[in-house]
Amino acid sequence: MVGHFSVCWRLRPAFFDVLSFGKLKAKGMFKSWFFQSFNGIIVVGSLLFFVAAISSGYFFMFPTFQPEMNNPDNRTSPEFVIDMNSTSTELDVDIDSALPDLVRECNVFDGSWVADDSFPSYNASNCPFAERGFNCLANGRRDKGYLKWRWQPKNCNIPRFDVEETLEFLRDKRVVFVGDSLSRTQWESMVCMLMTGVNDKRSVYEINGSKISKQIRHLAVRFGSFNFTVEFYRSIFLVQPHQAPKRAPKRVKVALQLDRLDDISKEWVDSDILIFNSGHWWTPGKLFDMGWYFQIGGKMKLGMPISGAFKTALATWKSWVESRINTRKTRVFFRTFESTHWSASRQHCKVTEQPMSKVNGRDKHPFSDAIIDAAKNTSIPVTVLHVTPMGAFRSDAHVGTWSDNPSVPDCSHWCLPGVPDVWNELLFSFLLSDQGPQ
Ligand SMILES: *[C@@H]1O[C@H](CO)[C@@H](O)[C@H](O)[C@H]1NC(C)=O
Ligand SMILES: *[C@@H]1O[C@H](CO)[C@@H](O)[C@H](O)[C@H]1NC(C)=O
Ligand SMILES: *[C@@H]1O[C@H](CO)[C@@H](O)[C@H](O)[C@H]1NC(C)=O
Ligand SMILES: *[C@@H]1O[C@H](CO)[C@@H](O)[C@H](O)[C@H]1NC(C)=O
Ligand SMILES: *[C@@H]1O[C@H](CO)[C@@H](O)[C@H](O)[C@H]1NC(C)=O
Ligand SMILES: *[C@@H]1O[C@H](CO)[C@@H](O)[C@H](O)[C@H]1NC(C)=O
Repeated sequence: MVGHFSVCWRLRPAFFDVLSFGKLKAKGMFKSWFFQSFNGIIVVGSLLFFVAAISSGYFFMFPTFQPEMNNPDNRTSPEFVIDMNSTSTELDVDIDSALPDLVRECNVFDGSWVADDSFPSYNASNCPFAERGFNCLANGRRDKGYLKWRWQPKNCNIPRFDVEETLEFLRDKRVVFVGDSLSRTQWESMVCMLMTGVNDKRSVYEINGSKISKQIRHLAVRFGSFNFTVEFYRSIFLVQPHQAPKRAPKRVKVALQLDRLDDISKEWVDSDILIFNSGHWWTPGKLFDMGWYFQIGGKMKLGMPISGAFKTALATWKSWVESRINTRKTRVFFRTFESTHWSASRQHCKVTEQPMSKVNGRDKHPFSDAIIDAAKNTSIPVTVLHVTPMGAFRSDAHVGTWSDNPSVPDCSHWCLPGVPDVWNELLFSFLLSDQGPQ
């Protein structure tokens, strides 16, 4: 019993697991303790476990408002560039400070960047799946310091990415990324990381020979020798757009149905590892200014604020995973909002050579809070990849003007290799080690 507990509270990046798998376990355990034994060790153990369980709630809440990005998927269209008004600050609560140190033990998302010459782990110019727009070196970036940082959690270590072990782990599996261009970046990063362990590069191919583009809905890279695919589905809102109703006001061009998950979602079901993101398109500039308005139950909700719509969409996502995902097969992840580094006016983007030492509030975002809340409230296990705090430091790691369109700077997307590789290291550390990072 005691042994079992110490496993429960000590391990893990794992407040996630405590929350998800652990939630049910915890109840049963408390019952049996109280009726079986009161010896000192168990009482202490139970206290620790209780603290861990309570604090698991904390780890999910790193709120506060942060300006939204400009222009993630469509860097060339001027109508996306200025995007001043954004979501409400109603989620603005900070309870992080009250957390006892004990249980911070393995919050892998609480840490710092440490210089490490052994990075990066691949050369994007030798990876056919790193799109040109993210290959900063190929697009003329000269400083290379940004490539050489490792994420170091405060109280534990992330196991170093082991390509052979990972390729074997993925054998016969199907990895599916769903989301916007930031998901595409993580997908590209994963394929490039994995390809470093494959001798015959021709055995890795997009199944239809499709080229990567900003609008493409589905890409699937197959690792022939290992019989697995790593796929990307573009679904920027996760929910399903529909033609505007006939009697809607003229400005309404598209009804975004917050209560229906994207119609391609049926293709996500039969996956082994399923990673979601959404957030960067939920801005007035990309919704209202483009004629996209919300709809629920067939009724237009013209005045609905974006923050509420985002939460409604997440509730739809939650019901979908709960009813469609077979937890014996599929492991579900949701990545939180990826930090951006636009100037306060959001019209300028200055990529630095060094990471910032202070995050200036960028480590929190209301969308991240909403995602954390939704995951916490989901009855199947969902691991949150809370990348907001770590990205907040990396003003040095964005594409800037070293993209495929240097005339439009980009402080939203990341260079490859770079920050998305670390998201994948974390993802693999959750997948490969039972106990998570140690
Ligand atoms: C991107 O911008 C171009 C030019 O303004 C426009 O034609 C295209 O429809 C935009 N794409 C999206 C996804 O909004
Ligand atoms: C957006 O902000 C401007 C001021 O920056 C304000 O005048 C305008 O009414 C706001 N629009 C909306 C839709 O909130
Ligand atoms: C990456 O590979 C390209 C092409 O092989 C080469 O020119 C370049 O020097 C390499 N870059 C680094 C940083 O090794
Ligand atoms: C490849 O993986 C699939 C499951 O994704 C499995 O059904 C099939 O038998 C595997 N093929 C081989 C040759 O191992
Ligand atoms: C490949 O092409 C087939 C037939 O057109 C299509 O059904 C499938 O969705 C495509 N897959 C990808 C990953 O593009
Ligand atoms: C959690 O889910 C339940 C239904 O499953 C819902 O009634 C409740 O509002 C949700 N809470 C949050 C915070 O989303």
